[in-house]
Amino acid sequence: MSEALVSVSEHSGVVRLTLNRPKALNALNSELLGELERVLDDLAARDDLRAVLITGAGDKSFVAGADIAEMRDKSPDEARDFASQALATFKRLERLPVPVVALVNGFCLGGGCELALACDWAVASDNALFGQPEVLLGVIPGFGGTQRLPRRIGPAMALDLITTGRKIDAQEALRVGLVNRMVPQAELETLAEELTRQLGANGPQAIRAAKQAIHAGQGQHLDSALALETSLFALGFAGPEQREGMSAFLDKRPPDFQR
Ligand code: CAA
Repeated sequence: MSEALVSVSEHSGVVRLTLNRPKALNALNSELLGELERVLDDLAARDDLRAVLITGAGDKSFVAGADIAEMRDKSPDEARDFASQALATFKRLERLPVPVVALVNGFCLGGGCELALACDWAVASDNALFGQPEVLLGVIPGFGGTQRLPRRIGPAMALDLITTGRKIDAQEALRVGLVNRMVPQAELETLAEELTRQLGANGPQAIRAAKQAIHAGQGQHLDSALALETSLFALGFAGPEQREGMSAFLDKRPPDFQR
């Protein structure tokens, strides 16, 4: 049997997805995207899911882009279908009700950068390299880059990166807000374990409500977004999680949130 293109492992409800085409630097082809889509559909149906971490196999690359060999001979209609498949897959990732974190362990280019942008946030090893080099191939980003990149780092910086195709290192990615944290390559695994521990231990319903409030509130007027927050805050008092969290604090013990 051939090896899975998306490997799945799990600890305390925190699922790690590893994109597994290291010989092609984990470039995204339609087969891998199809597999990722199926895995994400399974995850979306789980109410015990706490978080998702997504990374690339090997120590060189997160994802080096959409698969150029697969794309080269596509007609416009086929290119549209390929981009639509990727956009639909990334939407599934974005719409998961739990935090999704990109663990960027090397090249994060083109469709790889667009995948990281569909995650809630990203952490990177210090050898990571980011960019949208599509114009060097005679196309524009097609997996969401022209829309999600300016929303994350501002239109001027997005235009800089997309029209020059230049690559930036993890330090600059940190500075412009493309990633939240950077660690030496040897410490990325420790950071992943720490994130798994934290996201697996904190109140699961509170984490889901926080993601819902932040995402849904972005497109709203501040007043209605604050009203949404108030509703979700109050709803938190309807379940056992709030009582356990606050009782644990007052009892001076760690909370034990049921899954
Ligand atoms: N698609 C297909 N294969 C790729 C690939 C990609 N995006 N990126 C790397 N590979 C393959 C290479 O062809 C090579 O395969 P072979 O061993 O069979 O020759 C293998 O991965 C290793 O790559 P290199 O030998 O090039 O490794 P390197 O360390 O010298 O360079 C790199 C690494 C700078 C990332 C270089 O591979 C590169 O520039 N890759 C392409 C990056 C890119 O342009 N990405 C954007 C793609 S277009 C896109 O994503 C469009 C969109 O928005 C939808």
